Amino acid sequence: MANDNIYTQTTSNTGESACPVTGLGATFHPFDDPYLADPYPFFEQARQGEPVFYSPEINHWVISRYDDIKRVFLDHETYSARNAQTPVTPWPPEAAAMLNAQGLRLMPNLSNNDPPAHTRVRAFVGDAFTPRRIQWIEPHVRRLITEAIDRMIGLGKADLVKELFYEIPARVLLVFLGIPDADVAKVKTWSEGRALLTWGRLTEAEIVAQIPSFIEYVRYCYQLVAHLEQHPGEDYTSELVQKLNAEHPEGLSKDNIAVALFGFLMAGHETTTNQSGNGFRVLLENRTAWQNLCADQTLIPQAIEEILRHQSGVISWRRYTTKEVVIQGQTIPQNSQLLLLLGAANYDEAVFAHGEQLDLQRKNARQHLSFGLGIHYCLGAPLARLELKIFLEEMTRRMPSLRLVKDQTYRYSRNTSHRGPLSLWAEWDVV
Ligand code: HEM
Repeated sequence: MANDNIYTQTTSNTGESACPVTGLGATFHPFDDPYLADPYPFFEQARQGEPVFYSPEINHWVISRYDDIKRVFLDHETYSARNAQTPVTPWPPEAAAMLNAQGLRLMPNLSNNDPPAHTRVRAFVGDAFTPRRIQWIEPHVRRLITEAIDRMIGLGKADLVKELFYEIPARVLLVFLGIPDADVAKVKTWSEGRALLTWGRLTEAEIVAQIPSFIEYVRYCYQLVAHLEQHPGEDYTSELVQKLNAEHPEGLSKDNIAVALFGFLMAGHETTTNQSGNGFRVLLENRTAWQNLCADQTLIPQAIEEILRHQSGVISWRRYTTKEVVIQGQTIPQNSQLLLLLGAANYDEAVFAHGEQLDLQRKNARQHLSFGLGIHYCLGAPLARLELKIFLEEMTRRMPSLRLVKDQTYRYSRNTSHRGPLSLWAEWDVV
């Protein structure tokens, strides 16, 4: 049971000794400033100077050009997704033992699974993730955003992350999944811990200290499936459980639903929280773009694609080589971990002219790689786009004078992949 647990397996690696440490490899410090505060200068350096390099700090090969990353995403046989959730900073044996002792299954399911098993799970959960389901959630999204703006609008100044972006995506997701709203603080705490356990750089003691909360989180997902089987609602999880019981799809069980929930409870809101913070920051820094949006809301769908491209909330994603490959003349051994710099690809001049500029008229903005590509393309993209749309519609309509508070410092958590400001202070005219 426990040894199919993706958190406690050792992912075999080529190891530093086999890999050349070149210029950029020695200067790539993804958990520290200046990269943490602004990785885009480094992205440019990598794309131009060393589009494939080995990083001893995280034991990954780092890829930064658009076409290379696109090829990797589209070739799932050569580039497995199996390491997508493997801790970047390996857990000490004590942490793995604590989790294994629980006997909770955390097998590969969606983002870290390969065909044919991935195909089965994706078809099953994807069938219920329909446009009808997005229509069903839309009034809930609108209500949550409107109520939060009502509470905030008289203040004239607020941290938008705290008042809007931190909790609302999670509260939307709770409705979507059939989880009581009262559990929002728990869910946020669990997913923050998980983000650091998977993509962060904690000390061994910090990792061990996080494990009890991580166990509670996994257990909660299993309990939720059992509860919704007995007391189904109108939500997505209830639909999945009923579908499973009606269809008995081969090779799938309620464990797959529980592990999918475990995935959604991170992927389904931390990403949107970060994307909203990044998006509003860049729009408000480009005053003309913000004013154009306020004057013409039909620009919003295009603005969503451009902020996803320009300031992705997921700046990198991972793959694993199933055989030796050559990319940009660089030989990468079999069983190597790859870090795909999506943020770098999104500025690649070969695809996006003046990629560093925010341009709401950009024709091909939607070609960004912020949702990945191919068989793992983000399942939640329609929900993320819906939330961004309603944030933008309501705020351009009700707060057109919104502007960033000057001279604030933006801080980001120490995470290789998920990036968004921890606070975003703005002010506006109270009328
Ligand atoms: C702006 C917000 C979001 C961003 C930037 C984002 C980004 C991503 C990325 C980069 C991947 C990996 C794609 C690949 O490997 O090719 C992914 C996968 C996934 N995302 Fe999202 N995501 C967002 C929102 C969401 C939401 C709201 C949900 C759920 C409600 C969600 C659920 C998933 C799932 C389940 C997968 C795995 C799909 C698979 O492996 O088949 N994401 N996302």
